[in-house]
Amino acid sequence: IEAQLRRDIDAAADAGAIEAVRVAALGKAGRITALLKTLGGMTPDERQAKGPAIHALRESVTAAIAERKAAIEAAELEARLATEKLDMTLPADAAPRGSVHPVAQVMDELAEIFADMGFAVATGPEIEDDWHNFTALNIPETHPARAMHDTFYFPNSNAESHAMLLRTHTSPVQIRTMMTQEPPIRIIAPGRVYRSDSDATHTPMFHQVEGLVIDRGIHMGHLKWTLETFLKAYFERDDIVLRLRPSYFPFTEPSAEVDVGYKQEKGRRIVGGNGDDEGHAWMELLGSGMVNRRVIASCGLDPDAWQGFAFGVGVDRLAMLKYGMDDLRAFFDGDLRWLAHYGFGA
Ligand code: PHE
Repeated sequence: IEAQLRRDIDAAADAGAIEAVRVAALGKAGRITALLKTLGGMTPDERQAKGPAIHALRESVTAAIAERKAAIEAAELEARLATEKLDMTLPADAAPRGSVHPVAQVMDELAEIFADMGFAVATGPEIEDDWHNFTALNIPETHPARAMHDTFYFPNSNAESHAMLLRTHTSPVQIRTMMTQEPPIRIIAPGRVYRSDSDATHTPMFHQVEGLVIDRGIHMGHLKWTLETFLKAYFERDDIVLRLRPSYFPFTEPSAEVDVGYKQEKGRRIVGGNGDDEGHAWMELLGSGMVNRRVIASCGLDPDAWQGFAFGVGVDRLAMLKYGMDDLRAFFDGDLRWLAHYGFGA
């Protein structure tokens, strides 16, 4: 048996063949297994005479099979290493890479610019209640400004005092901040806002950044300096000038609409500007004003002790002006070619 098994073992050329030899010798119905079974029927003397030889046979065949198996595996590995080659010098396939969306990019820029002026970033919920979005901001139930905001209301909410809605501006974050933080306060609040409105320059969801400063002795000079510093940093030019036009917001008094202007020169144009006689291009940019005493009081602060200013600016508009985009809707189409065209994306 041994000589025959050794020939079979030596002849086995691959992992399947050597396994077949093992089963034929040592498996349940194997030849050596059968020999081992005969030991049970022998007399003690017989068993003592033949047992050691049978056990030795099993040991040596087991070892021979293991050795052959290791040799086969080593040879197979050699063969694979010889044929499978990976050329590390070949260029990799171009995999699409993600990038920062222009709106997120602008929000990051704003957070950085305002951080340099000592502003922290605050946030509030996009699902707001009527009180934070309107009432506390001096926009009572009957106020026409409520209609002007084209508000998305939740149909099942209690319309009386706690109607739930999608916030129409980031101004409710002013309220939430004043109610939870002790002045002095210096925050910006970037985020999504919603109005039922849709055309080339309006989308039902858009982005604003709110600014709020509450401290002692704050006046419009602080507001103007802050906006000027911010806009010069954002547009990366020193010739930015501001024009404050009297305006009206229920939550600021006085209120000012801010236009940004810059000397027009050949080759450097901010898209969307309108020229004037002095060679300035002007753009309407943001709403602002001194925080209304009633708003300060509705947050539980003493308006004789604390004053402040606030402003609100459209982030999408800021992005369009800086990067030369002309259709607001494209911001939210998720079209990679559009993003790549403006330098965002692979
Ligand atoms: N919340 C106003 C808007 O959405 C903007 C604004 C903010 C105006 C803060 C004044 C002060 O139009």
